[in-house]
Amino acid sequence: MKKNPVDLERKYLMQTYARSPIVIERGKGCWVWDVKGRKYLDFVAGLGVNALGHGHPRILKALREQAARVIHVSNLYYHPYQGPLAAELAKITGMDRAFFCNSGTEAVEGAIKLARAFGGRQSKEKFEVVALDNSFHGRTIGALSATGQAKYRQDFEPLVPGFHFARFNDIQDLTAHVNERTCALIVEPVQGEGGIFELSQEFMDAARELTRRYQALLICDEIQAGLGRTGRYLASQWYGVKPDIVLLAKPLAGGLPLGAFLAREEVAGSLAAGMHGSTFGGGPLACRVALEFLAVLKDEKILAHVRQVGQYFYKQLLALQKKHPLIREARGKGLMLAIDLDRPSRPFVQAALDRGLIINSTHDTVLRFLPPLIIEKKHVDQACEILDALFTEASRENPNPTGQAGVR
Ligand SMILES: Cc1ncc(COP(=O)(O)O)c(C=O)c1O
Repeated sequence: MKKNPVDLERKYLMQTYARSPIVIERGKGCWVWDVKGRKYLDFVAGLGVNALGHGHPRILKALREQAARVIHVSNLYYHPYQGPLAAELAKITGMDRAFFCNSGTEAVEGAIKLARAFGGRQSKEKFEVVALDNSFHGRTIGALSATGQAKYRQDFEPLVPGFHFARFNDIQDLTAHVNERTCALIVEPVQGEGGIFELSQEFMDAARELTRRYQALLICDEIQAGLGRTGRYLASQWYGVKPDIVLLAKPLAGGLPLGAFLAREEVAGSLAAGMHGSTFGGGPLACRVALEFLAVLKDEKILAHVRQVGQYFYKQLLALQKKHPLIREARGKGLMLAIDLDRPSRPFVQAALDRGLIINSTHDTVLRFLPPLIIEKKHVDQACEILDALFTEASRENPNPTGQAGVR
């Protein structure tokens, strides 16, 4: 008899994930279906990966054609797509050179190495990295060392030495942390995992100014916010600030694992031959599909669409907030949006699932929305109708569970 995949996972997988209890079998556009044939509106998009939804015909075509030609060659040889993809990414990010890896956390690792190599050329004391409280940069040891949330760090300490944390949007505190020992400051222009918080313009300006003053690098982690999610290629472009290193991953290869760090010419030269590498990074299949993904973003004018539908979604969330006092705040940019509740958000994820909507809970009280960038107003309406029903029900059962006003 065929074993149930859930039972097998429970027996044979390390139990690191608190999965929602559905087994997703297929997807099309903004929708997925589970093995029982139930349909769900997908407002998580594989944690921001499936930017073009599921089964986009151009992504499928590129994938099929390339899989039939060659999937992997290693970085010992050239292939036709890594160079063109680097050139395209350089153009849209304003950077000069790219390195390809397989995930967000690997992009962070590479950037830390690059920053330390760059700092080391100036002085052997110049190895410190400043990151922000409440940040999230990944799960590998270097990226975790830059992640400013105790819950992710506490079981693995001591982490890599030389990492310091400045308070979010606090220029005075940032100024107290950046100095001549700093080789890099790493920021998410919009904190994602931390609950969707935008850096202020003043803070971003100060970050640029301070890093320049101390010849340290400004690293923008655009892994969640980049590649169209906020309605620009990079979230940092909203600030008019040019970083020294840009990190990308998530949607880059239409669902295949691919990450990248890009840097300005003077910086990129600090990594010479043999100093960094990857077996899988930048393979022909992922790079070919990534080129197609970027072409679709352009051809289908996805960035303008994100700005438009994102604004509509935000307004609908504000309307929900007006109606339901349990919503403390609606916030975000483009299609990187969230609402903060006066109570734990996790039960709403299950309740939404029961009604056919996939959403995500982060940072205890926050519901995060990272829908495919191709959603239309009608999908927003459908999602908000379900949320409205959930909040009406929850307010009836429990009007104010903590009795507290909202705090950040
Ligand atoms: C801003 C940011 N950086 C880094 C990462 C880590 O990416 P990955 O899970 O692909 O390693 C994430 C993942 O959510 C992220 O949101």
